Amino acid sequence: MYNKENSPFTPGSPVPVELFVGRSEQIKELIRYVGQISSGKQENVFLAGDRGIGKSSLASGLRYFVGTQKNILGIHTFLGRVTTLEEAVRHIFEQLLKETKKEAWFEDIAKFFGKYIKEIGLFGISVSFTPPEQDLKELVRNFPEALNNLLKKIKEQKSGLFIALDDINGLVEKVEFANWYKSFVDEVATHYKDFPVFIMLIGLPEKRDTLSRLQPSLMRIFRVVEIEKLSDKEVKDFLSIAFEKVGIKVEPDAMELMVRFSSGLPLLMHEIGDATFWIDTDGVINEKDAIAGVVKAAENIGQKYLDPKVYRAVRSPRYRSILRKLGKRPLSRNFMKRDVEAMLNEEEKRVFHNFLRRIRELGVIKADVERGPGAYRFVNEIYPIYIWMESERFKRA
Ligand SMILES: Nc1ncnc2c1ncn2[C@@H]1O[C@H](COP(=O)(O)OP(=O)(O)O)[C@@H](O)[C@H]1O
Ligand SMILES: [Mg+2]
Repeated sequence: MYNKENSPFTPGSPVPVELFVGRSEQIKELIRYVGQISSGKQENVFLAGDRGIGKSSLASGLRYFVGTQKNILGIHTFLGRVTTLEEAVRHIFEQLLKETKKEAWFEDIAKFFGKYIKEIGLFGISVSFTPPEQDLKELVRNFPEALNNLLKKIKEQKSGLFIALDDINGLVEKVEFANWYKSFVDEVATHYKDFPVFIMLIGLPEKRDTLSRLQPSLMRIFRVVEIEKLSDKEVKDFLSIAFEKVGIKVEPDAMELMVRFSSGLPLLMHEIGDATFWIDTDGVINEKDAIAGVVKAAENIGQKYLDPKVYRAVRSPRYRSILRKLGKRPLSRNFMKRDVEAMLNEEEKRVFHNFLRRIRELGVIKADVERGPGAYRFVNEIYPIYIWMESERFKRA
């Protein structure tokens, strides 16, 4: 029997552990680094990867692992909208507080946070940590000491701290952050012998460069772990496990199609899997279902990522018209500059170079170095489908 109530796919949210595939090298490496803190040594990692590649999922899996297997108190907090050190530090302590809420020894730790704990939510299910600005500034200044005091408090129960700071893209743009982090690490190294704290910053690969530009010596401090695409085999494993979980069969040619269009990108395999899951009506995914699923997924992905990022950003009528011409070509991931140029009128030709630069900056295409100068490639298999759909829509309208 198959189950049509809940999709096993989670596009956009960290994947549940039982559906996690791949990354075994990175996991081994990270676990080794986490292991280092048991000797009292503080560790710093930068986890780098493009959007949707699986950074948050990896961090969340790792936190789960260290929490259950290593007796380490772990937090994974998202700092996407945070731009000040005070907010960042407040988030970190609030998350630590929330994490300990489940523990029997919460009352002990609550005292540590003083009078700034607020029980929120209808039934006091959640807690927040909201000290006044002055105290937050103090926490920023004395961050090593505050963490050290917390470590002392939980010593009986936990052997260390795991802190994953996700989406730090905005924060690392600030020179204060780079300097603060550097002095944090230096102070820990000089003043604390036993400081079992693992900190992992998570962000886009270019943010690592930003950080090293703002504070060059930071690059000696961070161990960089980078994640890239999954292999087709891993994508296939994922789709097989996910569909099997809900009792749905997948025919081989349908599987091949979904794997191909996923282009090794975790986010795409979830979008395609999810769309196909809802399209299927009989518990067997055949090629027709898969094609419809890919088209639906392209629609969703385009609306979520290309509409706001590209269609709204690229307003110039000439750019729009080039984009539509790009979409007219038979669906293909690669193109040569000169082939597209041949379809353009004089005015479009004049701005074509800038157009290409712009959509490159927006992360839609990249230079195809292997095929030489003037060769470009969409960053995934799905974007050209959406661009084609858009130009078809325009033609009909
Ligand atoms: N190793 C993995 N196995 C299965 N699904 C994954 C894996 N990594 C990521 N995903 C899925 O891919 C999508 C993007 O993952 P996410 O961790 O949010 O990426 P990032 O944080 O790099 O933007 C999510 O839908 C997530 O469920
Ligand atoms: Mg993420």
